Formats: sequence, structure tokens, C-alpha cells
Amino acid sequence: MKKRVGILISGRGSNMMALVAAARAADYPAEIAAVISSAPDAAGLAWAQARGLPARAIDHRAYPTREAFDWAVDAALTDAGVELVALAGFMRIQSVGFVARWEGRQLNIHPSLLPLFKGLHPHRQALDAGVKVSGCTVHFLTADTDSGPIVAQAAVPVLDGDTPESLAARVLAAEHRLYPYALALVASGRARVEGGRVRIDAVGHPDGCLLSPQP
Ligand code: GAR
Repeated sequence: MKKRVGILISGRGSNMMALVAAARAADYPAEIAAVISSAPDAAGLAWAQARGLPARAIDHRAYPTREAFDWAVDAALTDAGVELVALAGFMRIQSVGFVARWEGRQLNIHPSLLPLFKGLHPHRQALDAGVKVSGCTVHFLTADTDSGPIVAQAAVPVLDGDTPESLAARVLAAEHRLYPYALALVASGRARVEGGRVRIDAVGHPDGCLLSPQP
């Protein structure tokens, strides 16, 4: 049985597009049961609706409190039979109750190698720190921002002359490969949280390493 996934977006939605594309494969272990945008004018929402996906806006500005908005989202996810939530550029902080309700069933992607560079402007933070490798992380959501158990990470080189924009573009291309893979690991039951860490069954381990800069 494919796991029913709800994707929450707020903007461009390129990670949602990568998940939608992956889920078209017959042997992918998840199907997209709902796309919910917190912004009615999000480009990603128009894209999803144009393709006939079950996509709708829940405008956060129409709700008096964070909790009221979250419970509207929760109701929509529940109505759609969603079992796993994937945040994809969803730019709303969630209430403690919502996070607790979906704990262990909600994934986020963050464009840094966590636990480095949490929060806003991770690419600017990475450049300021002078790291030679950055990347992206898919993790389970917990109450502490960008701190939940890590499912998978992808690394990219940081190049001399990079700007936050050029680094973001390189990381984003990695995000589009990582998120469908990480969601598949969770949806298939191969990735499980145990003792605050994610254990992964039966995946190969890379025997190489990324040298950055290249020799
Ligand atoms: C992505 O780079 C994602 O990692 C980031 O927002 C972008 C959304 O792009 N998320 C965060 O920074 C969350 N802290 P998208 O709408 O094209 O997927």
C-alpha cells in the first residue's frame, strides 16, 4: 500500500514538483493525497491545480491565531486521509499541538547540512562560515526548529566566488534528488526513528567521499 502524503507549501514549490514527479512511478511507495498552500497566490499552488492534483489554499491570514490555522490544515490533511506530511518550502511556524500530533509523521527539508546553519539565510551563514561543503537535510519535524531526527543529507561543494544565490541553486538541485529519496525511505518503512535518531535498513553506503575543493 502506498503511503498517502500531504505536501505543505508556501511559494515556488519546486520540491513539491520533485515529489510529485517521483510519485508518478508505479513502484514509488507514496502517493500525493493533498497539496496545501498557506498562500493563495503561491506559484506552486497554481502549478499543482493546473495538473489536477488535489491542491488548495488555506490562507493563514484568514485565521485569528496560529492554532486556528493549524487546525484547519490538520482537518484538511485528515479529510484527505494523509498519513505522512512533507513540508516543502512551508514558511509557517507550527503550533506545539500540531507538531505533537504529527510527530514521527512529518518531514521537512532544510537547505543546509544540519545541525549547521539552522533558521533563516542558511546559504549566507554557510558563506560567512567559510565552509567548503554545504548541502541539504531531510529530517523529522520536532518542536525545536530544524532540529529533528535526520533521515538523509546531500552534500555539494561551496565554490570560490559563490553568492548566496549561486549556492542556493546548487543546493536546490540536490534537494530535488534528496527529498524524493528520503520520503521513499520513510514511506517504505526503511527509515525509522529509534532513540531520537533515524535508523535505515538495507541501503548501500557510499565508499567514496566528496573532496572540496577538488584536488
Ligand atoms: C527550499 O530551498 C527549501 O529547502 C527551503 O525553502 C526552499 C523552498 O523552495 N526551506 C527552508 O528554508 C525551510 N527552513 P521550493 O518552494 O522551490 O521548494
